[in-house]
Amino acid sequence: MFTGVAPRYDLANQILSFGLDRIWRKRVCEQVALWKPKQILDVATGSGVLAHELEKTNPGATVTGADFCAAMLKVAQKRSLTRLVVADGLMLPFADAAFDVVTVAFGLRNMASLERALAESARVLRPGGHVLILDFSLPTAPLLPAYRLYLHFMLPRVAGWLTGQADAYKYLADSIERFPRGQAMIALLGQAGFRDGAVRPFSGGIVTAYWAERR
Ligand SMILES: C[S@@+](CC[C@H](N)C(=O)[O-])C[C@H]1O[C@@H](n2cnc3c(N)ncnc32)[C@H](O)[C@@H]1O
Repeated sequence: MFTGVAPRYDLANQILSFGLDRIWRKRVCEQVALWKPKQILDVATGSGVLAHELEKTNPGATVTGADFCAAMLKVAQKRSLTRLVVADGLMLPFADAAFDVVTVAFGLRNMASLERALAESARVLRPGGHVLILDFSLPTAPLLPAYRLYLHFMLPRVAGWLTGQADAYKYLADSIERFPRGQAMIALLGQAGFRDGAVRPFSGGIVTAYWAERR
C-alpha cells in the first residue's frame, strides 16, 4: 500500500491536513529536544519528514530512520538523512538500549501488533529513554460528526485523486477509528515497559502525541 502512495505521499499529507502536519511535527520535535538525546530512532520513518525535522531541532543527535517500505525510504533519501535502514518495526535490527529516544509518527497504527511494536521500541531504548508516538485520534463531541464526514467521505475522494490510491485512504479512516486513544494508549505503553505516560492532543484532538519513559 505504501509503495503505491510513496511518490505523492508528502503532497497528499500537506493538502489533506491543510498544512497542519508541519505544526504537529514541530511540536513533537520541540518535546524531543527537551530530552537532549544523542541517539534518536524514527520508526516507520516513511518519506523521512519527521526524521529530517528531528535532525534540524536536535543538532547534537544522530537520527536513524527505519521503515520496511523501500519505496518510502527512496523518497526519504532525497532529504539527505544520515542513516536510513530498511527494517520492520516489529523486529528491529538494533541492539538493546541503543537509543535515547524512539519516535513513531503515523506508523504504529499500521503495524500488525501494537504490543509487539511497543515492546520492540522499549527493547532498543535505554532505561530512562523516551518513546514518542504521534498519530491520528478522534476529536471531541462538537467536532466529531463533521470530522467523520471529512474522514470517511471527502478525504478518500481527494486522496484518491491525488495519489491514485483511494483504497489506501479508506483504510486510513478505518484504522483511525480502531486505533487506541487517550488512556487506552497509555495503558498499552505501561504494559510494554513504560511509565509516566503523557497525552497531548493537537488541533482539537484530530492528532495526539503520547510520550513515556522507559522503565
Ligand atoms: C503513514 S506513513 C508515516 C510516515 C512518516 N512517519 C510520517 O510521519 O509521515 C506510515 C509508514 O509506516 C511504515 N510501516 C508500516 N508498518 C511498518 C512496520 N511494521 N515496520 C516498519 N515500517 C512500517 C510504512 O511503510 C509507512 O512508510
